[in-house]
Amino acid sequence: MDIARTPSTPDGNPQLADAPPEPKQPPIIRREDYTPFAWLVPETRLEFDLGLERTKVRSTLTVERNPAAAPDSVLRLNGDGLTPISITVDGNAVNDFAMVGDDLDVPLTGEAHTVAIETEIDPSANTQLMGLYASNGMLCTQCEAEGFRRITFFPDRPDVLSTYTVRMEGRAETFPVLLANGNRTDAGEAEGGRHWAEWHDPWPKPSYLFALVAGQLEARRDSFTTMGGREVDLAIWVRAEDLPRTEHAMESLKRSMKWDEEAFGREYDLDVFNIVAVSDFNMGAMENKGLNVFNTKYVLADYETATDGNFEAIEGVIGHEYFHNWSGNRITCRDWFQLSLKEGFTVLRDQLFSQAMQGEAVKRIEDVRVLRSVQFPEDSGPLAHPIRPDSYREISNFYTATVYNKGAEVIRMMRTMAGPERFREGTDLYFERHDGEAATCEDFVKAIEDGAGLDLGQFRLWYSQAGTPRVDVALRHEGDTAILSLRQSVPATPDQPEKEPMPIPLKLALFDRETGTHRGEQLLVLDEAEAEIRYDGFAQPPVLSINRGYSAPVSIHRSVSPADLVFLAAKDDDSFARYEAMQELLVGHLVAAVEGRLSDTERGSGREAIGEAFGAILADDQLDDSMRGELISLPTQSYLAEQIEIADPGLIHEEREALKAWVGERFATQLGAHHDRTSAVPFGLDAAAKGARKVKGQALVYLAAADPAGSARRAMTQYERADNMTDRQSALLVLAGLDVPERQAALDDFYRRFEGDALVIDKWFTLQAISTHPDVLEHVEALADHPDFTLRNPNRVRALYMAFAGNPHAFHSADGRGYRMIADLILALDPINPQTAARFVPSLGRWRRIEPGRAALMRGELERIAAAPNLSRDTFEQVTRSLG
Ligand code: BES
Ligand code: ZN
Repeated sequence: MDIARTPSTPDGNPQLADAPPEPKQPPIIRREDYTPFAWLVPETRLEFDLGLERTKVRSTLTVERNPAAAPDSVLRLNGDGLTPISITVDGNAVNDFAMVGDDLDVPLTGEAHTVAIETEIDPSANTQLMGLYASNGMLCTQCEAEGFRRITFFPDRPDVLSTYTVRMEGRAETFPVLLANGNRTDAGEAEGGRHWAEWHDPWPKPSYLFALVAGQLEARRDSFTTMGGREVDLAIWVRAEDLPRTEHAMESLKRSMKWDEEAFGREYDLDVFNIVAVSDFNMGAMENKGLNVFNTKYVLADYETATDGNFEAIEGVIGHEYFHNWSGNRITCRDWFQLSLKEGFTVLRDQLFSQAMQGEAVKRIEDVRVLRSVQFPEDSGPLAHPIRPDSYREISNFYTATVYNKGAEVIRMMRTMAGPERFREGTDLYFERHDGEAATCEDFVKAIEDGAGLDLGQFRLWYSQAGTPRVDVALRHEGDTAILSLRQSVPATPDQPEKEPMPIPLKLALFDRETGTHRGEQLLVLDEAEAEIRYDGFAQPPVLSINRGYSAPVSIHRSVSPADLVFLAAKDDDSFARYEAMQELLVGHLVAAVEGRLSDTERGSGREAIGEAFGAILADDQLDDSMRGELISLPTQSYLAEQIEIADPGLIHEEREALKAWVGERFATQLGAHHDRTSAVPFGLDAAAKGARKVKGQALVYLAAADPAGSARRAMTQYERADNMTDRQSALLVLAGLDVPERQAALDDFYRRFEGDALVIDKWFTLQAISTHPDVLEHVEALADHPDFTLRNPNRVRALYMAFAGNPHAFHSADGRGYRMIADLILALDPINPQTAARFVPSLGRWRRIEPGRAALMRGELERIAAAPNLSRDTFEQVTRSLG
């Protein structure tokens, strides 16, 4: 039955009759305004008549009054771009509904009702990739955070939990495979070459965890027996030709299931677990209950087409989404302000899993590097927010490094303070106490407090205060006493001018310079603005190793001699601290150089200290290669910029490249020897062979910086002999940055070799966009016109433009062309895929921390974007916050 589209007045709510015209600015949603929903929805039945261009959706909801909420005579259902075709309540047609903006108000008078609604959508026109969309001839869904409302009208908020039954019907030829959450309960043939399947998920869940997939897919199958003896059928669904590349993902899944039982006591709770890989996907992957949907990038791998880094990322992401089954699905979020409850905790869980699988020290270093180069800049810029934000306009903008990575660090600090065993008692209590609920960050903290026996009163500030705390450290020596003084401060951030001191757990050790040993590691929790601690019995001034293992996500400022740093880089028994000493040495030198604080003599002595440390690392045959690779990494450009109040990105890049070339020249022999040695290691997936490939790639980078022409031959040989993507890519990266004849030959070869293989062609775009070649801007402009480039595929957009925006010497080109290119991209992409478009805004947003010439150009581009008509909520919010 058709219903007129004119809004009518629901009883008792006359002010809704004339919904005000769409406000110009999207409204601000505030955490403090949370109220529970007036209605419960115990059961949801969804019936889909599937078509790529036209899908009909009929949803039937059982609703009853929520005794815990203020009564409401209206059922407000969220929608986004939907028109109701029919609405019934208890079988009777409803005419007195109202559209309020995109939402639907259905008047309800009784205690419990059955509400049925029909809608129709066009998945092929869904370029945002939110809700139900078509990708490569198949249909799939992405509902987090607010995509379900693009499929059907529903209370699309995470605290409304419902049990879903899903019936799908469609042409058997187009959609041979029909998947949804939970277990398949029935299936059959229908008329006209059609067939259907019905799935039931017994676990109540919020709408954002709903998923459906229909298309031509093949499965790699396996099984897992849980600790309680449940036999779980595992399947990874991909296009037939991709099946051989799914082995690693399947092995990763089984390892994840086993590890979560051992490390957190968490067992899987359905008879099937399906993973589907899709090539058009906004994010990395999604944890839909029993039916995870993944970007192909985080599923498909073999060593000819995927690097060691890709293999590790797949293991981490498979783990992450699987771990959400408990931290996210069984216990979900009350509202989206609590996002870190599931994401921060799950990131910590995936980090611990990867540390267990791949090696503790190196993985920790990698995680800290990401935190410092992505989250620190966010925390000190216009988009800074606490891990539990207080307000937003568009929740998609808050899936940030702060909520994820700093969120994980905050929980890791609780674990450090409690110790792993007591922390586990805390998480056991959390899972037991809140199973089946939509919980808050406060619930989590309370459970850890009760279960682990910690007082986290003051620690809660980590959830509400934004900004990276700074800790100033000084060590002085009097008589035979070493006196450590510490001072903390948290910088002002948007809306938070004043901060209070927070508890900062610092692991430290004092080394005797003669023996090279310390008397034991200490955990000191700095919970006041200032503290002074005395250590007796030191005849000589000791060497301080602090924030070992990176026990707190803070930035340490101290004045320490290069000699002490060289000592720690060589002798510290904490691997992270060794890495950190090396980084401190490099950062100190580079920042002083960029700030023009180095005389020629000081530049010389600074380099000598760095040389001494590098020499020791290159010569140390006790060191495994994967750690060696970390120790010889230069600090990232963005972390360096972060250390400087007003930075000149051009200068930072120059100094960093100059140091690279100096190291390459000074250690040409040793680096050449490492390159030769590692080139002789046969391919293998063991840690030693992986470490060798890492050192091989890095040695080549240093050598090329010092001697481009000579190294081009070395790189070309590596490229040609490569029997795996890690070596091939590291050689091509170097070649792509050089102005040598081999460059184009290698790029052309790579393209021909992998033409049509989307994930590898993404690498081909990226390598050219991140290169140090002087003509990168022209290269990227040309690549944007390449027949393989499209704005419709997020992986391809990121492969070219995210890579470019992270390439300092091109993006920060002093004439502003790089900024203009990214602003043009944002404007072109916004109408197609606003979520992905908005993710490019932060790169332009750091203008306040950049020298005035470039700052003005960046601001100008932000203003140009802000002035564009019909900006999405996503981009509007990021641009206005960035302009401040
Ligand atoms: N729940 C998210 C997926 C998601 C992100 C949905 C943003 C909607 C908006 C998923 O669990 C996730 O966090 N995925 C990450 C990868 C993960 C390993 C950090 C992603 O997609 O980047
Ligand atoms: Zn997640």
